[in-house]
Amino acid sequence: MDAKVKSFSNNDQDKSDSFSQDVLHGLSQEQKTLPCKYFYDSRGSQLFEEICELDEYYITRTELALIDTIKHEVADLIGDSATIIEPGAGAGKKIQKLLSALDSPKTYVPVDISPDFLDYSEQKINQKFPKLEVLPIEADFTKPLSWVQQRNIQNRNVFFPGSTIGNFSPQQATKLLANLASITDDDGGVLVGFDLHKNVDKIKAAYNDKKGVTADFNKNILVRIKSELNANIDPETFEHEAVFNHDESRIEMHLKSKIEQTVEIENRRFDFQKSETIHTENSYKYSNQAFVELAQEAGLTSQKHWMDDEQLISMHYLTK
Ligand code: AVJ
Repeated sequence: MDAKVKSFSNNDQDKSDSFSQDVLHGLSQEQKTLPCKYFYDSRGSQLFEEICELDEYYITRTELALIDTIKHEVADLIGDSATIIEPGAGAGKKIQKLLSALDSPKTYVPVDISPDFLDYSEQKINQKFPKLEVLPIEADFTKPLSWVQQRNIQNRNVFFPGSTIGNFSPQQATKLLANLASITDDDGGVLVGFDLHKNVDKIKAAYNDKKGVTADFNKNILVRIKSELNANIDPETFEHEAVFNHDESRIEMHLKSKIEQTVEIENRRFDFQKSETIHTENSYKYSNQAFVELAQEAGLTSQKHWMDDEQLISMHYLTK
């Protein structure tokens, strides 16, 4: 990794400070919350990869197949010598499909908070696309992305698949899209994938899998609190819960205390009633129309969109 790039990442000290601050802040709220970005340490990233393979979790496999179907059309829209920036890049399977269809892509910039994912994808991509420059950046993509604008690169595009956008409230998602749009240039666009609103039982099953992988993924945030902070908390006293919130059109993940208890973290005490929950994640589901409106709020126009045959997920190519 080149030193200039690496200097954009936080050092470990900053990281554990903000983790502890965010945890203490979240647990002090009336409805206790924890930010879902903290699911993804190396164990959490591994568990997420397992979720993607589950029968019930349709998003990943459906999107991979959709990208295969549309990649040449997308390649025509993006044009040649493109730079592709991927916030929350993860294991990098989807980008490989897109890159294979693009006309002499120039640079790939994976951005992720998990160094494990970054190392893996850098290796894989370098191997498969030797002519492509790979510039991994270890960063939280919700923070300002001005470092990309500072580099003088043409045809900058953002690839934002996987329904990651669903983790943000519509208001936050609008800001995020505007932020992502600001790092593209006039030739560029943003390719976003999101989960469509659908039969609620199908959504609920995807977040309540039979094997309990999603439950372990959810509880991993408590495992991290226990091991990384000065904390007295037993993850096994909490259970996974995923409920659909119709008013907000989102599935919510919670950790529900099985007992009345007080946990201690960094010398602060937090009381839990029996069945009180910590709200850990939102995953918003949109119609195409609602998504187009959201993009418009962010100053973006949907040039084209695609869905799988079952209309489970959707991808939009947005431009300024
Ligand atoms: C990675 C945000 C798309 O919301 O579906 C999977 C995360 N949470 N199972 C999603 C997740 C529970 C996932 N995203």
